[in-house]
Amino acid sequence: MKYQNEVVTEIIGLQYGDEGKGKVSCRQTPGSKLVIRATGGNNAGHTVVYQGKKYALHLIPSGIVCKGTICILAPGMVIDPSVLIKEIEMLKESGISVTPHNLKISNRAHVIMPYHKELDEYREHLKSKPIGTTKSGIGPCYAGKADRVGIRMIDIKNCSELRNKNIRQKIFEEMLTFTRKDFCDISSYNDKKLDEYVSLCVKYHYSLSPYICDTQNIINDCISNGNKIVIEGAQAFSLDIDHGDYPFVTSSNPNASGTLSACCIGPKNVKDVIGVIKAYMSRVGEGPFPTEQNNAVGNKIRELGHEYGTTTGRPRRCGWLDLVQVNDAVIANSVTKLAVNHIDTIGKLLEICVCIGYQYHGRLISSTRLDKKNCKPVYSHPFDGWEIPKNCKTYDDLPIAAKKYISFIEDFTGTPVVYIGIGAKDEDVIVREDHTSIENGGGWNI
Ligand code: IMP
Repeated sequence: MKYQNEVVTEIIGLQYGDEGKGKVSCRQTPGSKLVIRATGGNNAGHTVVYQGKKYALHLIPSGIVCKGTICILAPGMVIDPSVLIKEIEMLKESGISVTPHNLKISNRAHVIMPYHKELDEYREHLKSKPIGTTKSGIGPCYAGKADRVGIRMIDIKNCSELRNKNIRQKIFEEMLTFTRKDFCDISSYNDKKLDEYVSLCVKYHYSLSPYICDTQNIINDCISNGNKIVIEGAQAFSLDIDHGDYPFVTSSNPNASGTLSACCIGPKNVKDVIGVIKAYMSRVGEGPFPTEQNNAVGNKIRELGHEYGTTTGRPRRCGWLDLVQVNDAVIANSVTKLAVNHIDTIGKLLEICVCIGYQYHGRLISSTRLDKKNCKPVYSHPFDGWEIPKNCKTYDDLPIAAKKYISFIEDFTGTPVVYIGIGAKDEDVIVREDHTSIENGGGWNI
C-alpha cells in the first residue's frame, strides 16, 4: 500500500474562478514537498507576496518561494513557453531561486504556439455569441491535443538547431488541421511561417530543456514517502468543460477529480479538498449568472473588491453569493473544508442577500440546472453588514454579523469554513484549521 498514503490537499475554486485560491495555497505550501499546478495555462493568474514584494504569476505555483518545495507543471497543463520563460526570469531577477531542482515541467504537458493564440482570437471574433476567452490560446491548444496533433514539452526537449525536422513536421500537421477548419487563407501556413515557428521552438528548447522531465516518478516517490503534496487548482467548477456552463467554460476539467487526473494521482491519496469561494460571486467573460447584479450593487461590489481580471484587466461581473451553486460544487468535488474570501468586502454593504434556491418554471428547486438562465434566484432574508475591526486575528474577533454569515454558509453546505479572508494581503486570513463541527450539522431544505 505504499502508494496509497493520504498526502494530497487539493485547492479547488467552486465558483467562476478568481476566488483567491493563491491565498489558501500560500497557507498550505509551507511544509509541502510538492506544489503542483494541474490544468489550464496562463488564463489563470495569482499574486504572491514574498518578503513584502508582489509577484504576478500565471503558470508557476506560489510554492516557488518556499525553500525545499518542488513545483510541478503537470501533464494536464497547456503551457505558453514565452510566458513561462518571462515568469522564470522575473522571479530570478527578484532573487528567487528557480532551478531544475525546484521547477519541473512535465514532458507530457502541451505547448501553446502563437497560432493557438491567433486562432483563439479569430474564433471569438467569428462567433455570434463569443465566450469571452482570455485569448491566450487555451482552447485551440487543448483542441490540438484532442486531435492528437499537439506539440508537447517532450518535443521541445528533443528539438535543437540540428534536430528540428521532427518538430517541423508536427507543427505543419497541427497547423494544417487548424488551417482546414479555420483559416481560408492558405498562405498563413507557408514555409516562412513554419521556419519562424521552428526557430521559436529551438529558442524554447535552450531556455526550458533543463526543467522538462517525467514528473511521475517525483510524484510517486513523494506519495510512497508520505510527503505532503498540494495541488493548486486553476479556474473553477462552473468553468469546467463537462460540468460548467458549456459553452461558456474553459477547455479543461478543473474539478477535484479532473485535477487529480491531470497530475496522474489516484483518488486514495487525497486527504483534503479545500473549496475556495468568495463571499459574493464574480465572473469574467460571458455565460449565465443567476445572481448577477447588473446595477449599483454590482458596481459597488466590483469597486470594493477590486474586481478586475489579473490576466486581462477586464471588469468582472458581480453579484450575490449563490449557495445553491456552491453547495452543488461542494458535493461534486467532495469538499472537506471551505475557504471564504472577501468577508471584509461584502460586509461593507448595508444589506446582503444570499441565494438559497431557484424558481424554475414555477417550481422551487435547490440544485442547479443545465439551463441556468431560466433559474430565478430565491434569496434569504438580507443579512446586516459589518466592519472588520483593526487587529482582527481570530474568529472570536469577528463581528457577530460576520459570524452569522459564515455559519449560514457552513449550515447550508454542511462544511466547516477553516479560512476566512478579511483583507487584500496574504496575511489577512483567519485560520481555524481545527474547526470541524457545524452547529446545525449541515443540510438545508427550502
Ligand atoms: P479560456 O480559458 O481563456 O478559454 O476562457 C474561457 C472562459 O473561462 C472565459 O469566460 C474566461 O474568462 C474564463 N476563465 C478562464 N480562466 C479563468 C480564470 O483563471 N479565472 C476566471 N475566469 C477564467
